[in-house]
Amino acid sequence: MSEFLAPPIAAPLPDVDTERLHLRRFRADDLDGLAAVFAHSEVWQFPYGRALTREDTAQFLDNQIREWDTCEFGCWIAVHRETRRIIGYVGLSVPMFLPEILPAVEVGWRFDPTYWGQGFATEGARAALREAFDTLQLDEVTSVPQVDNTRSCQVCDRLGMRLSREVHLPGNARRGAVTGALYLMSRDEWRAQTAPRPAS
Ligand SMILES: CC(C)(COP(=O)(O)OP(=O)(O)OC[C@H]1O[C@@H](n2cnc3c(N)ncnc32)[C@H](O)[C@@H]1OP(=O)(O)O)[C@@H](O)C(=O)NCCC(=O)NCCS
Repeated sequence: MSEFLAPPIAAPLPDVDTERLHLRRFRADDLDGLAAVFAHSEVWQFPYGRALTREDTAQFLDNQIREWDTCEFGCWIAVHRETRRIIGYVGLSVPMFLPEILPAVEVGWRFDPTYWGQGFATEGARAALREAFDTLQLDEVTSVPQVDNTRSCQVCDRLGMRLSREVHLPGNARRGAVTGALYLMSRDEWRAQTAPRPAS
């Protein structure tokens, strides 16, 4: 269903290497690595306030693989290039949890706490924004952290996203209603702060 709620895209999201991260489509054999990351309760403090079980993670992974197949974009698994370890995910998704802004694309992230404080989320998210504007040719990308998720709001600030307003995120089967901070970035805003991609 999310394909009807995503804006049209000019081309699918490719896999990407940044300075320190290999960012690629999720695969079924990512389960062990991802379950180890999601076993840290801090990773899912927002919105669930608890770690994810292996079964929860398997469901998450299935959903991600299906979303990619449907939309031709999604979140990437983030592999630390130096150690080849799975350290989180970052990328693009349709923010189904906020119907009032659809169709839309959100940039989002979750990383193993061992790797916080080193700029990995910002590095991966910059790559996602670049692909969103240059490859998918989107006009706008959003991000909607909970207002009390300070670290996530700081990633949005670091990316140069614009805080638009607070939004009510309706409750669902897995969490109560919460308040989100709606951040936006237009393609013009991205281009104003970014050097063009070098010609290959
Ligand atoms: C949100 C989350 C990814 C942010 O992680 P983070 O490490 O704070 O963010 P970054 O990877 O951008 O790193 C920024 C920090 O690294 C430092 N840093 C070091 N090298 C850096 C670099 N090359 N570039 C940018 N920052 C760098 C920054 O100074 C900053 O330090 P600080 O924490 O002392 O302020 C992490 O807290 C997380 O996974 N949380 C749980 C999941 C979650 O809530 N996701 C959001 C759901 S909406």
